[in-house]
Amino acid sequence: MTAHPIRKRILLAGVALCAVLFGAGQLFGGAGGKKSPVAGPRTQQAEATKYAGAEACQACHAEVYEKFEATPHWKTMLETRRGPEWQGCEACHGPGADHIEAGGDKTKIFNFKGVSTKTISERCLQCHLYGEEHSNFARSAHNVNDVSCVDCHSVHAAKEKQFLLVRSQPELCYTCHLEVKPQFDRPFRHRVNQGLVDCTDCHNQHGGFVTRQLRSTAAQDAVCFTCHTDKAGPFVFEHAPVKTEGCMACHVPHGSSNPRLLRRSQINLLCLECHTLTVDSDVPGIPAFHNQSQKYQACTVCHVTVHGSNVSSVFFK
Ligand code: HEC
Ligand code: HEC
Ligand code: HEC
Ligand code: HEC
Ligand code: HEC
Ligand code: HEC
Ligand code: HEC
Ligand code: HEC
Ligand code: HEC
Ligand code: HEC
Repeated sequence: MTAHPIRKRILLAGVALCAVLFGAGQLFGGAGGKKSPVAGPRTQQAEATKYAGAEACQACHAEVYEKFEATPHWKTMLETRRGPEWQGCEACHGPGADHIEAGGDKTKIFNFKGVSTKTISERCLQCHLYGEEHSNFARSAHNVNDVSCVDCHSVHAAKEKQFLLVRSQPELCYTCHLEVKPQFDRPFRHRVNQGLVDCTDCHNQHGGFVTRQLRSTAAQDAVCFTCHTDKAGPFVFEHAPVKTEGCMACHVPHGSSNPRLLRRSQINLLCLECHTLTVDSDVPGIPAFHNQSQKYQACTVCHVTVHGSNVSSVFFK
């Protein structure tokens, strides 16, 4: 169950501030302090002579070089102001002069093999640590569970050119999250397999502050409102659980065998989970006359605007 939206917003603001104050590097806990096998760009200013420039790599790695020219990282070649440690091949692989001098000794260049996932991600984040999308990778379930940038992205051999992906969604996600796949084959589901909605419309694969790596709207409300704006209100008469417990009080997000992605096969059973008279509940039970006729079984035939209404306190229209 999600927290109350207001409380959540304050919490979010607080956490966001902390993240800014501490700087994301430290969030990797330890890994940031350890020295990488080959120094990263920021520590390399003093060793400028160890950089050979990407053209020097072309001599022996012609194929890699040619492909590289067609990728977005080629842009790093055009940005000369910050020095060679931020440009081309060596922005990721570190200084290459020693490697070249030794005729291509692979122990003298950073090659992303046999290093920790945290070290890999840190290297990418030297340039990609920005904005809400990317600033929280350290706290993501992916980082914590040793999934790194290059499990999803391929700098040199991307199957999916846009965003340099190892493969496109949703297959990319299913390679590790096979357990959620059947949910998107259920009779009622978000059409992810058909490409109408992406996993990453709802989840931030790069991490964030909401549980399950869920995204939120610009106003920090539930991600569902980004597309289902008509459910957002505010309404004169709110149906309390929509705001307090959120959409998942009644719906399952991925897919369901029940129409409207509902948790229950019959709507009345769903409503009666809360609307039963018990002594210690402040949720009103159904009026006694509801029990007198079969027609009261189909709750939403009368209580039509179950997400909130501007005209009816009992959601008739
Ligand atoms: C004189 C030729 C030569 C030049 C110039 C050269 N390399 Fe290499 N490089 C090699 C050879 C040969 C290997 C393979 C070594 C092996 O497999 O034992 C290699 C391996 C590598 C590897 C590791 C691949 C692996 O499988 O582990 C990386 C990364 C690499 N080079 C990057 C670069 C970069 C970046 C540059 C430019 C700064 C560069 N190389 C310039 C010859 C060269
Ligand atoms: C944005 C970071 C980045 C840049 C820039 C980059 N590489 Fe790489 N390179 C990688 C990563 C990551 C790997 C590990 C393989 C993988 O995950 O795709 C790699 C692997 C390699 C390898 C090992 C063989 C292979 O294909 O797996 C060679 C050789 C290599 N790079 C050379 C180069 C050369 C030459 C350039 C410049 C033309 C370059 N790289 C630019 C990130 C980069
Ligand atoms: C679990 C898989 C996964 C991991 C791990 C991951 N990414 Fe991504 N990333 C994606 C997907 C999928 C997209 C494309 C999203 C879309 O289609 O809108 C993307 C998009 C991007 C983009 C382009 C769009 C943008 O928001 O700027 C960048 C840059 C990027 N990722 C960098 C990184 C870096 C750097 C890391 C590691 C710190 C990383 N990613 C880790 C899956 C991943
Ligand atoms: C030296 C800085 C630098 C480093 C290090 C770096 N990148 Fe990038 N990356 C860039 C730039 C610049 C772009 C192009 C942004 C643009 O198009 O505006 C880019 C673009 C991307 C994109 C988006 C591709 C697209 O289609 O929009 C992805 C994904 C990405 N990088 C992943 C990585 C990964 C993974 C690593 C680590 C292996 C990495 N980057 C390391 C500078 C860097
Ligand atoms: C290389 C494997 C791998 C890939 C690819 C991958 N994930 Fe994950 N993901 C994991 C692991 C491991 C965890 C942490 C353990 C878990 O919760 O299953 C995780 C956690 C998550 C969580 C948090 C679950 C929770 O319980 O908090 C979400 C959401 C998620 N991934 C979404 C995605 C999406 C969306 C994609 C595709 C863009 C994706 N993942 C791609 C391995 C992967
Ligand atoms: C319409 C929004 C939406 C889409 C699209 C979506 N998810 Fe989710 N996902 C959620 C929500 C909401 C939860 C949290 C459910 C809960 O806590 O009850 C969740 C939970 C998860 C979890 C945690 C484990 C679980 O089953 O509860 C994983 C892993 C996950 N999603 C992966 C994916 C992958 C992979 C895709 C794409 C194939 C995807 N999601 C598409 C909204 C979405
Ligand atoms: C990226 C946009 C997007 C997001 C985010 C999104 N949805 Fe949807 N949703 C859709 C689309 C599009 C459909 C229509 C599906 C179809 O026709 O196949 C839909 C359908 C539904 C339906 C079924 C409607 C019907 O008539 O059967 C429900 C219920 C629903 N979404 C709930 C949610 C919930 C709950 C969330 C948040 C966890 C959410 N949606 C997030 C786009 C989105
Ligand atoms: C108190 C239970 C409850 C909550 C909470 C709830 N819904 Fe619903 N929702 C329903 C019921 C019941 C239906 C089916 C109404 C019908 O069949 O007439 C429905 C239908 C829908 C539909 C499809 C029909 C339509 O009205 O467009 C969408 C989309 C939807 N809900 C989205 C959401 C979103 C997004 C949230 C969170 C903001 C949410 N719901 C919260 C009970 C709920
Ligand atoms: C998760 C619990 C929950 C579910 C499920 C639920 N409700 Fe409610 N409902 C509430 C709460 C809490 C209130 C607000 C009570 C208050 O304001 O004191 C409420 C208020 C109402 C009211 C207005 C009562 C009044 O006197 O203002 C109606 C009518 C109503 N719900 C109908 C439904 C219907 C129909 C369904 C099934 C589609 C449903 N509810 C499902 C918790 C729930
Ligand atoms: C045939 C139309 C109809 C159907 C179907 C119906 N109701 Fe009602 N409901 C009413 C009327 C009429 C009222 C009284 C409205 C008023 O007081 O103004 C009411 C009032 C309520 C209230 C408010 C009680 C209070 O004390 O404030 C709740 C809760 C409620 N209904 C829940 C349900 C649930 C749950 C179902 C399905 C099991 C359902 N209703 C089916 C017509 C209907």
